[in-house]
Amino acid sequence: MRIFSGVQPTGRKHIGNYIGAFEQYVAGQALGEAIYCVVDLHATTVAYDPATLRRDLYDLVAVLLAAGIEPERSILFRQSDVAEHTELQWLLMSATAYGELTRMTQFKDKSAQQEFISAGIFAYPVLMAADILLYQTGQVPVGDDQRQHLELTRDVAQRFNSRFGETFVVPEGTYPEVGARIMDLQNPERKMSTTGGSPQGTVYVTDDPEVIRRKFRGAVTDSGREIRHGADKPGVSNLLEILAAVRRSSIAALEQEFEGSGYGDLKLAVGEAVAAHLAPVRERYALLRADEQGLEQTLAAGAQRARAIASETMRAVRAAMGVGPAGPDER
Ligand code: TRP
Repeated sequence: MRIFSGVQPTGRKHIGNYIGAFEQYVAGQALGEAIYCVVDLHATTVAYDPATLRRDLYDLVAVLLAAGIEPERSILFRQSDVAEHTELQWLLMSATAYGELTRMTQFKDKSAQQEFISAGIFAYPVLMAADILLYQTGQVPVGDDQRQHLELTRDVAQRFNSRFGETFVVPEGTYPEVGARIMDLQNPERKMSTTGGSPQGTVYVTDDPEVIRRKFRGAVTDSGREIRHGADKPGVSNLLEILAAVRRSSIAALEQEFEGSGYGDLKLAVGEAVAAHLAPVRERYALLRADEQGLEQTLAAGAQRARAIASETMRAVRAAMGVGPAGPDER
């Protein structure tokens, strides 16, 4: 079974990304052939600074390796290194309806924030479909916010297959349960976010342990004093979710453990657990990030392996679509 996911090299990654996605990626390595792509081309669809993009990309690759992605075991590569992604995107555009793209909620949200609405941001979901379909992917671990894009990918794959003949595996999305939605510590009604979150409410993967503890000590909690998970307690629920994810325990077990304790005790415990969980990651990160040439070598080796699979798929796509010269068995 092949697993594929993509992650944007933008902004500093936080524990929402780490718990919600990166830990899933690491676990995926034991489930099948895992392919992880740093999608720099997606990041060019909105206003951005080229030097920052490159720096953020190295930051992200170092975080992924520090988190436990093993480049010998899985394929870790940069999207722009494998030209087949943009080639397949173009060809899939003709199997995608204009109306489908206008209905994408992320397009509507993102474009509303842009002064210049690029055609790239409109076509973004087709590039994502190309990423996934190029590798004949079975499973795509993604966040809840990517459901609509994944459904589009499936629709496009099915449409292509029925029009041009069986070419693509139709992928399934896999969505995390616990820790899927880590909320901002200062505003637990909002998802923790790189853009628009509060600095004190966002815990970065590479934050100093003391900074992590401080951010948790200052977390906003709820009225009442009972430590219980529930819709009326967004702050406490978020802390319990984070602790459950880090300790790999259940919410129910934590509610029992903290029965009779105060909110302050919970905040201290979560801060301590997260700081301890991330300390070794932070150490590995520092070493990896200091060697950009090493990171480039890892990416180059990943791209080479990715290309071998992608070029195979492109041969089939071109043949099915009647694009380019006929293959030896079609003449
Ligand atoms: N759109 C995804 C996000 O913002 C990133 C992405 C690009 C992706 N290509 C992908 C995710 C392919 C999964 C599979 O999170």
